[in-house]
Amino acid sequence: MRSGPILLLSLCCLSFRHVDDGTGVTRFAQTASVPSIQTDIPSLCTALASDFPLGAAIWPGALTGLHGELLKKHFNSITAENDMKWQHVEPVEGKFEFGPADELVSFAKANHMLVRGHTLVWDQQNPTWLFKDVQGRDMTPTPENKALLLQRLSRHIRAVVSHFGNDVYAWDVVNEPIDPSQPDGFRHSAWYRITGTDYIDTAFRVAHETAPTAKLYINEYATTNPRKRGLLLKLVRELKNRGVPLYGVGHQMHVNLDYPRASAITQTVHMFAAAGMDNQITELDVSVYQNDQQRYSSAPTALLARQGYRYRDLFRCFRKLKGSISAVTFWGLADDHTWLAHYPVDRPNWPLLFDAALQAKPAYWGVVNPRRLPRRK
Ligand code: XIL
Repeated sequence: MRSGPILLLSLCCLSFRHVDDGTGVTRFAQTASVPSIQTDIPSLCTALASDFPLGAAIWPGALTGLHGELLKKHFNSITAENDMKWQHVEPVEGKFEFGPADELVSFAKANHMLVRGHTLVWDQQNPTWLFKDVQGRDMTPTPENKALLLQRLSRHIRAVVSHFGNDVYAWDVVNEPIDPSQPDGFRHSAWYRITGTDYIDTAFRVAHETAPTAKLYINEYATTNPRKRGLLLKLVRELKNRGVPLYGVGHQMHVNLDYPRASAITQTVHMFAAAGMDNQITELDVSVYQNDQQRYSSAPTALLARQGYRYRDLFRCFRKLKGSISAVTFWGLADDHTWLAHYPVDRPNWPLLFDAALQAKPAYWGVVNPRRLPRRK
């Protein structure tokens, strides 16, 4: 564990500054001027080398300086947190902007890391032109608009997937298509309203035609929820019956200290594996909150210890599932940059393995060596 003086130094260095989180929105983020990363602790991805590759989703700032050092030491896979999303790569129709994503891929190649692509089709972070008809009005569900939207989808996927080629080994092709609150179980996004489920088939078929060896996933959150899981399984089976080239299911795994239990994760992965699916954990983080009302201004020590045990249990579960789970990716590198500082409400959160000063938390030890977790009170 961290020694007293280092802890003090870390805390002294904490400050708040404005950052652009990659969505173009400037926000406050907890940041730190960091003295150094710990060089005397085990590398996470080396410790897990016989289980699965270990990834982090990152913003461009995490490629340089001490963040870059931490990333190289502990991870052998990276994902762009935002820089491969439609809004970022094709903000204007036919004009592709790959700069930040290319930098991420170059970093990965220079450091022998895998790249997971995220994401080709989603109902969020899209440019406004995408759902406008030829007259510039919001698309309504007509046969003409359906054809136009599927054409835009095919062109986008061909351009993006061919640009990265074999540098991206896996793609989240369709993100979050299920909505258990709908009677038909599908998210009623513009994609669905205009094309039905054809957007899903088209996205997978075009991605596969363009990169036949890439592993293609449906990525979804709350996959342990029984109704949602059932709906996703049904979709998976229907896609397979239609010959759609789906390789696996991405389980986002934005979880909290208690929910879902590891046993529910195990059961879920087994169910998808039995349906012929590979599984990846794609967006792991452990919020310290149980509901939208809680808010701590600093991280309670007892909760960080509980989080350490929670990570221990999660990784015991993932490791037992090796063979059915082919990768685990965290949705972030360290607590200085996490989407949970703004979702579901603005508040500090500490969901990752390294603190805002890039030092190992109990969560880190829970993954790598649970004997070093703080004693339970
Ligand atoms: C989040 C990013 O982390 C944020 O920076 C951005 O503002 C919104 O999107 N599920 C997903 C991810 O599939 O793409 C989301 O990422 C988090 C939820």
